[in-house]
Amino acid sequence: MLLLASFISQTPLGHEESVDKVLLRVRFKVHIINGMPDNAKPLEITCHSNDDDLEHHALWKDQEFKFKFITHFWRKTHFVCNFSWGPKSLNDITVFVSRDETRSCKQSGNCFWQATPQGIYFSSDFRNCGLRFTW
Ligand SMILES: *[C@@H]1O[C@H](CO)[C@@H](O)[C@H](O)[C@H]1NC(C)=O
Repeated sequence: MLLLASFISQTPLGHEESVDKVLLRVRFKVHIINGMPDNAKPLEITCHSNDDDLEHHALWKDQEFKFKFITHFWRKTHFVCNFSWGPKSLNDITVFVSRDETRSCKQSGNCFWQATPQGIYFSSDFRNCGLRFTW
């Protein structure tokens, strides 16, 4: 597990955002999970953000790669990954970007991306999963 931190600074909240003040979350954790039914081949991932290279990881069945960070306040936080599984691959998949995932993962502070033979599912609670990308 890799620990990442970036400094944030407070900027005045806009009118719309002040409504959400209580739930203004800045700490998030992204989980990438090998949800394949067997161990014939690993799920290979390579991720990076504007600032950080999270390197290459091979995940076997049920293994997870996770990283946490604090979102930037004045500029976009954006994490992108390449996924490959045998001959199949998906490149430049956004696993976290300010505005989208800061909203969708706000409640739990967690974003789960689970790779399956069909593609990659997203969930913020690991119960209600939706297929986001197909191989
Ligand atoms: C993903 O793959 C593309 C094409 O090979 C490459 O240009 C890009 O840098 C890769 N991205 C990551 C996050 O490794």
